[in-house]
Amino acid sequence: MRIEKAKRIAELPPYLFAAIDSKKREMKKKGMDLIDFGIGDPDLPTPQSIIERLKKAAENPAYHRYPSYEGMIDFRKAVSRWYRRRFGVQLNPEAEVLSLIGSKEGIAHIPLAFVNPGDYVLVPSPGYPVYRVCTLFAGGIPYTMALRRENGFLPDFSEIPAEVAEKTKLLFINYPNNPTSAVAERSFYKEVVAFARHYNIMVCHDAAYSEVSFGGFLAPSFMEVEGAKEVGVEFHSLSKTFNMTGWRIGFAVGHEEIISGLGKVKTNIDSGVFQAIQEAGTFALENFDTPLPDIIGIYERRRSVLIKGLQEIGLKVDQPRATFYFWIEVPRGYTSAQFAALLIEEAGIVATPGNGFGDEGEGFIRMAITVDEQRIREAIERLKKIKF
Ligand SMILES: Cc1ncc(COP(=O)(O)O)c(C=O)c1O
Repeated sequence: MRIEKAKRIAELPPYLFAAIDSKKREMKKKGMDLIDFGIGDPDLPTPQSIIERLKKAAENPAYHRYPSYEGMIDFRKAVSRWYRRRFGVQLNPEAEVLSLIGSKEGIAHIPLAFVNPGDYVLVPSPGYPVYRVCTLFAGGIPYTMALRRENGFLPDFSEIPAEVAEKTKLLFINYPNNPTSAVAERSFYKEVVAFARHYNIMVCHDAAYSEVSFGGFLAPSFMEVEGAKEVGVEFHSLSKTFNMTGWRIGFAVGHEEIISGLGKVKTNIDSGVFQAIQEAGTFALENFDTPLPDIIGIYERRRSVLIKGLQEIGLKVDQPRATFYFWIEVPRGYTSAQFAALLIEEAGIVATPGNGFGDEGEGFIRMAITVDEQRIREAIERLKKIKF
C-alpha cells in the first residue's frame, strides 16, 4: 500500500533544526563532550511539595476517571485567584478560564475554532513555530510580522497593509518572547488592543514565560490593559513557572466566547488534564508566590556568567530581562546555520540557529541557560579559543 501524507503535513515548512540535530549526533559519535544550550526546557526539578501533592492525589480513585475537558472548577478558581493576586485582573473561573494540556495544546487548537480557509493570521518572526503551523493546519494564511532589534523586537502594526489586516482573524503575540527574550510594557498592549479593535482581530497572547524574569522585573499580563478581555485571550503554563514541562498543564483565560470556542474544539479532541495533576497545579498556584525566587536566583547567576563571557568574546547580545534565552547576533560573514555548525564542531557547544524561528531570525543564534553554571563557565572558555 502506498502511504500518502495529507497535504497539510507534506506542505509543512522544512524542519530547520534537522541539520543541527544530525551534527549533534555526529559529534556525539566522535566522543565530543557537548554542552547543550539548544533546549528550552528547564533542567531543574519541580518543587518537592508539588510532587508530594501529585503522589497523594494519584491515590484518589475519583481522579482515575475521565476529567472534564474544561478543567476542575478548583483549578480554574486557583487560576482566577492567581490572576487577581499577581496581575490585579478579575476573571470568572466558570466562563473565562480553561485548562489546557500545556499551553502548546491550546495555541495549536485555537485556529481550528476561529480561522476559516483563506483568513489571515498574524504571526511573529522570529517566533515560536507552532503559531505558523497551527494556522496552516486550519487552512489559514500566516502573515509575518517582523520582530526587529531596533523596535525592541515588538511588531510594528503600521507595516501591516490594511487589506491584510481587514482579512485577518487572529493575531499571535508572545511576551516575554521566545526566542528574542524581549519584554513588552503595558503601553504596547494598549496599542495591540487599539489595532485589534480597529480591524476586529482576535488577540492570542502567549505568556508562557511571564514568570521567568530578572532583576525585579515583573512581566505585565495582556489582560491588565483596558479592553484586552474584549478582544482576546492569554495563554499560560505551569511549565516554566514551576519547572513542570513534562506534566502538561496550562490554561487560557480571557474573552468568554473565545474560551468557549476553544473549549468546543477540545471536547472533540481531548478529554482534559489528569485530575491529580490539576490538584497539584492548584496547590502550586495557591501556595507559591511567582516568580519563584529560588528558580529565578539560579537563572540570574547563570545569566550573569553567560552575558559577561559572551560580551568579553565580543558577541553582540542584550542581557535578557526575562525568559531563559539569549538572542545573539552571529559575527559578520556567517549565516545562523554556519555559526551554529562552527560552535558545535569546534567547541561542542549546541546553540539553535535563529532561522529555525522564521526568516527574520536569520543572523542570530539562540542559547538557553538551561545548563548549570559550571558548564556555562566551561563553554565560555571553549568559545574563547574559537576564531571567528
Ligand atoms: C513561546 C512558547 N509558548 C508556549 C510553549 C509551550 O509550553 P507548554 O506547552 O509546556 O505550556 C513554549 C514551549 O517551549 C514556548 O516557548
